Amino acid sequence: MSHAEHSIAAADAVVPVFPDLRGKVAVVTGGSRGIGAATCLALARSGVRVAINGRDPHALQASVAAVNAAGGEAIAVAADCSQLSQVQAMQAEVERHFGAPDFVLAFAGGGTGRPVPVQDISEQDWRSSIDNNLTSTFFTVKCFLPGLLARGSGAILTMASAGARVASGAPAGYGAAKAGIVMLTRHLAQEVGPQGVRVNCISPSAVLTERTQTALTPERQARMLAGFPLGRLGTPDDVAAASLFLLSDASAWVTGVVFDIAGGRVMV
Ligand SMILES: NC(=O)c1ccc[n+]([C@@H]2O[C@H](COP(=O)([O-])OP(=O)(O)OC[C@H]3O[C@@H](n4cnc5c(N)ncnc54)[C@H](OP(=O)(O)O)[C@@H]3O)[C@@H](O)[C@H]2O)c1
Repeated sequence: MSHAEHSIAAADAVVPVFPDLRGKVAVVTGGSRGIGAATCLALARSGVRVAINGRDPHALQASVAAVNAAGGEAIAVAADCSQLSQVQAMQAEVERHFGAPDFVLAFAGGGTGRPVPVQDISEQDWRSSIDNNLTSTFFTVKCFLPGLLARGSGAILTMASAGARVASGAPAGYGAAKAGIVMLTRHLAQEVGPQGVRVNCISPSAVLTERTQTALTPERQARMLAGFPLGRLGTPDDVAAASLFLLSDASAWVTGVVFDIAGGRVMV
């Protein structure tokens, strides 16, 4: 079974449909794999048309194909979100195809390597963590926010991590970048709330994706369980379900929050 097929089956199992989302348009950065790909599928199952972003054209096409196979409508918009000119081009392409999106899910990012002592972090690794996570999120919001403000409605979701909430096993640069995303989210929520746009932040702990399944041996996963009161690691669908809730009118009076999707590992 391919990863995409697995995601469809999992979405069938646990992600609810939010009827008020039907007919909306979303752009999902980092939608080509893992959590982002599962969220694209869940959005499509609620009737949302999706512009899916990533860098790897093969992964991107697989994610688009999975959404279309599930009866949804998706386009691929390749861009490196750490490059402003590429995000600007992506925004123009999305708006040409669908019009301005109702929802912006800035999920692109990830960690770079194993934690090392702070004095040993290379300049390149530091800049890569910040660019790939915090700057990518800023560029995405900067480019798509005018469309939401013009409409006077819509929602933005940003992507932090348990590494932004507690000093965990994550690389310090990654934790710092994700903590920056938390504060960017709060600033934005305060700024654009009066104009009808909500901004919230998803903050997962360990979620089993293709990438993390490869990185974490079964023995390591078993050892990690002790830190999770709910007794399991997360799935991409756990994050997708929370994301749909935060986009839906079910959370109409929620903005500026950091939503820990963490099986109880993070309680702040
Ligand atoms: N999985 C977890 O346990 C976990 C926990 C906390 C937070 N998160 C966060 O959740 C998000 C998704 O994580 P994941 O585990 O699903 O990762 P993943 O499977 O590695 O997928 C990462 C996605 O982000 C895209 N991406 C990365 N950098 C990008 C860039 N500069 N421009 C455009 N796209 C970029 C990748 O696209 P390409 O591969 O096509 O380049 C891919 O679609 C990340 O922000 C990550 O930090 C994950």
